[in-house]
Amino acid sequence: MDSDRRTPGEVLANARSTYADKWTVSAEWHEAEGHYKWMADDLGLTDATILEIGVGDGRSTLELLSRGHTVVSIDENPECLAAAKARLESAGYEATVELRGAVQEDDFQHAVVYRTPNTRVRTGWCHLIEGDPVVDPGLRGWLERACGFDAVVCWLIGTHNARLGSNFHYHAKEVRSSGDYRLVVQNEVYELADLVLNRGGFLHVVDRGEVEDSEEYRNDVLSAHRDQASTTKLVVERCSHIVTGSVAAEGGKEMVMTPGSSGRPFLKSSLGLVAITSRRP
Ligand SMILES: C[S@@+](CC[C@H](N)C(=O)[O-])C[C@H]1O[C@@H](n2cnc3c(N)ncnc32)[C@H](O)[C@@H]1O
Repeated sequence: MDSDRRTPGEVLANARSTYADKWTVSAEWHEAEGHYKWMADDLGLTDATILEIGVGDGRSTLELLSRGHTVVSIDENPECLAAAKARLESAGYEATVELRGAVQEDDFQHAVVYRTPNTRVRTGWCHLIEGDPVVDPGLRGWLERACGFDAVVCWLIGTHNARLGSNFHYHAKEVRSSGDYRLVVQNEVYELADLVLNRGGFLHVVDRGEVEDSEEYRNDVLSAHRDQASTTKLVVERCSHIVTGSVAAEGGKEMVMTPGSSGRPFLKSSLGLVAITSRRP
């Protein structure tokens, strides 16, 4: 069918599938470069209960499970949930998937309406749940009741074009670019972590950006995240980084960098990943 004549629901289905295919190439690169090990080491917990926002193809989740964690992982993309389940099961882990979304569309836009989750959390398992914390109030209520979390991780959040172009909710929030999108999701994750973390628990956000070993750089990153945390009880404690020396994995999703609060231009020689850790007092 001519792409111009596809319905918003068809555009969404295609964008989800293309995104899942591309992300797995990027994730393979992140895994081969040791980035997931670095993230899990930086979080620094073992045998904890973790809420992950954004499962990708499950490689980040696999790293968490290998540390003895119980994981609840939320993703809006059913294609990513299916890929993650297959990966986790083939590595020998118990994984469940709960699909909850119903796509609705008019001539121009789509929306996804989610029913309340009914997964029961089991120690040592991974529970993969379709949802989107930004537009999914039933998820928030369920997460508050399901169990206490020792950490919330939001690693490398990003999305496909149909969310930026034709999603009713994100359009209403005036989200037009990857940068807007990341900020909206991360802000929501700060609020969610405030609700579901046990006392002493951590929020661990990993993003792409300029990285360098200087006080000015660290203050720039920390001050951007302190703004994000300012409506919550969370205390932004530290940031760490790893230089990746690249902005894109061949064939995968191009890495779009997030600037610090100063908005300084990027130094292309020092692009990498930055992890920001906050604590719930
Ligand atoms: C770039 S991938 C990163 C996945 C994984 N954390 C990793 O580091 O490999 C981002 C994932 O977040 C999911 N995602 C993006 N926005 C989301 C949202 N608002 N709610 C739930 N999942 C989301 C995407 O579908 C995708 O699977």
